[in-house]
Amino acid sequence: MVKQRDPEEFPYEIQDVEPDLAAELMVPYTGELTGFVRVGPKGYFFPHKYKECAASFYNLPIRPGDVFVNTFPRSGTTWAQELIWLLKNNCDFEKASEIPLNIRFPFLDFSMLIHPELTRQMYEENKGDEEKMHYVKLSNMAGDEKVNNMPSPRFIKSHLPLSLLPPTLIDKAKVVYVARDPRDVVVSVYHLCKMHRIHGAPDSFKEFWNYFIKDQHYYCPLFEHVKEAWNLRNHPNMMFIFYEELYENLPFTIQRLNSFLGAAECTPQQVERLCDHLSFAKFKHNKAVNHSLLSKINFINGQYSFIRKGKMGGWRDYFDSEMIEQAKNWFTENLHDTDLAYPSMKTAAS
Ligand code: A3P
Repeated sequence: MVKQRDPEEFPYEIQDVEPDLAAELMVPYTGELTGFVRVGPKGYFFPHKYKECAASFYNLPIRPGDVFVNTFPRSGTTWAQELIWLLKNNCDFEKASEIPLNIRFPFLDFSMLIHPELTRQMYEENKGDEEKMHYVKLSNMAGDEKVNNMPSPRFIKSHLPLSLLPPTLIDKAKVVYVARDPRDVVVSVYHLCKMHRIHGAPDSFKEFWNYFIKDQHYYCPLFEHVKEAWNLRNHPNMMFIFYEELYENLPFTIQRLNSFLGAAECTPQQVERLCDHLSFAKFKHNKAVNHSLLSKINFINGQYSFIRKGKMGGWRDYFDSEMIEQAKNWFTENLHDTDLAYPSMKTAAS
């Protein structure tokens, strides 16, 4: 079924995913119980709930001074968020450890991912506990309501591709886009989906991979998502960075980000402290960035950590020769029309 939209409100078509495919996908994707949609000419794939949020995301009032972190999921969003927040808040490490990152830097599209039945379960399972209920309400709050209530300067995370965010965004706000080797992204998304009750994934990574490269996962097609931002990389309000740059030269990326954000210059001691704070070992045990509130309400399986392995090239442990070949073709088909090149493509080991 094709939904006709008021083009003033939302210009793209939202198409239901064919019922047979939706039924097949809902077996492993246990968090979705209704179905999926594809949006616009690129066919961005979302849970059915996107339909009710599309116009509010697209028409979100943007304020000058807003800072957005925009990524395909599992590309280094959390890492960049914490760094940006600290740079723009005079390296206030104390406040950063007291207030969870998802309160300081909320995720616009999160509640879209929670199926109404899971919302019901969240309320039911956590009733009677004031702290947990506060977080349940916050998680389920519509994205626009959540960020419209924030005082400026606002820090906002979104995984939506730029074309589904307000067209005024790039001229009014600053956008930091983080991209990562897509093979590492898929592995990381797979683990996230296995640990998260709102998602679910097949037992086998290979099965998941085969859905993913057919763009049958949230926010896919991945390359289109990245190319939208890459095409804007020279815009003065856009900073495009790779996870691999954060990984390989964090002090340099800190300086670049600092001047992009117009933040006060960091002292060498502050840069050193930032690098320590953002190191994988410290980050993994930092409760303020590890989505510990989701674990508290039992929506993340306790044995997994949101900050997981933090490796470059970790995909090699998951891909057999057939998948390596599929990945090569996936890259070739999607990169033939762009000068986008991932750092890993420039090394012989890729
Ligand atoms: P892995 O699952 O490969 O470990 P996002 O924040 O966009 O969801 O991205 C999460 C990915 O970034 C995870 O990848 C996570 O471990 C990695 N990551 C987060 N913080 C990191 C850090 N300080 N150093 C290295 N990798 C980090």
